[in-house]
Amino acid sequence: MTCGALKKRPKTKIPTFLPATKLLISDSYCHYLKGPLQSNAELKASVKEHWEGETCGTRYAASESRARYFEEIEEARYRLEPYIREFANFAESKGKKILEIGVGAGTDFSNWVKYADKACGVDLTESAIRLTDERLKLAGIDPSRYELSTSDAENLPFADGSFDLVYSWGVLHHTPNTEKAFREVFRILKPGAKVKAMIYHVNSWTGLLLWGRYCLFRGRPFESKKSAIFQHLESPGTKAYTLPETRMFLEKIGYTDISLSTRLGPGDLLKINPSKKYQSAFFRLAWKFYPRWLIETFGRHFGLYLLIEAKNP
Ligand SMILES: C[S@@+](CC[C@H](N)C(=O)[O-])C[C@H]1O[C@@H](n2cnc3c(N)ncnc32)[C@H](O)[C@@H]1O
Repeated sequence: MTCGALKKRPKTKIPTFLPATKLLISDSYCHYLKGPLQSNAELKASVKEHWEGETCGTRYAASESRARYFEEIEEARYRLEPYIREFANFAESKGKKILEIGVGAGTDFSNWVKYADKACGVDLTESAIRLTDERLKLAGIDPSRYELSTSDAENLPFADGSFDLVYSWGVLHHTPNTEKAFREVFRILKPGAKVKAMIYHVNSWTGLLLWGRYCLFRGRPFESKKSAIFQHLESPGTKAYTLPETRMFLEKIGYTDISLSTRLGPGDLLKINPSKKYQSAFFRLAWKFYPRWLIETFGRHFGLYLLIEAKNP
């Protein structure tokens, strides 16, 4: 059964205990949440609505000058997530055809465009595509070097074997069927080409914080971190994976040369500007007394960011 086959029900809470092992091989993990709730299409519409409301990264920019506005977004991004540049290795795309899935405000995309022969970018939202397009026009980039479109990661509008590299940072855990999206990526990669992606890692400080606030604090210690993340992290239905689960679903699709690692995200260290969702007394106290140095020193294996590199053989 797929999520799409679920019967629509009135809004209910996501159930308490989710056996972790069942999540290992799920095609789309919401059907283990017995009840919610929404079909894949409905969930995707809520995801779209969420991100149309605030394009990623724009919270850090306030300038009236549009050029300065985009600079502020870029400065904050690479200050808070300094490892992106090393992981992406933008210069590696020289002479290649690349695709970025989920361009957001277009910061990484404008770096791909500097090097790639041809850069394609997609996002579920019109607001992200509009913003990225504005940014590239403002920078005077030759429009023949790139293509942007509003498209869905689960149904990519590209022929098999089209790309030398597919890149996606913080996106594919938001789509209702993450595994289907990774299958689409596999399909459009040329043989021997690589995907570089970041999805969320469940055994993380962020997962623990959300579990503490929404499960333990509410007297429901048997609820899982996955369900806390599903309900409370960014757009509705966000998923997070363990390293073995990730390896398993990538291998099942056919990827080889899989390399996985984790990084502390700014959320793990509460170094982000909190959104409206996180303004309660619990979070205000957490922001104030959070032991950031302890986590940076001893807790680096429990980062929210799960970095993936894998090949279509
Ligand atoms: C957390 S933001 C990340 C954006 C950008 N990669 C960044 O790091 O700033 C998530 C993005 O994923 C996009 N997204 C979510 N589901 C998607 C899907 N099924 N297909 C394409 N984009 C999707 C959202 O519209 C949003 O722009």
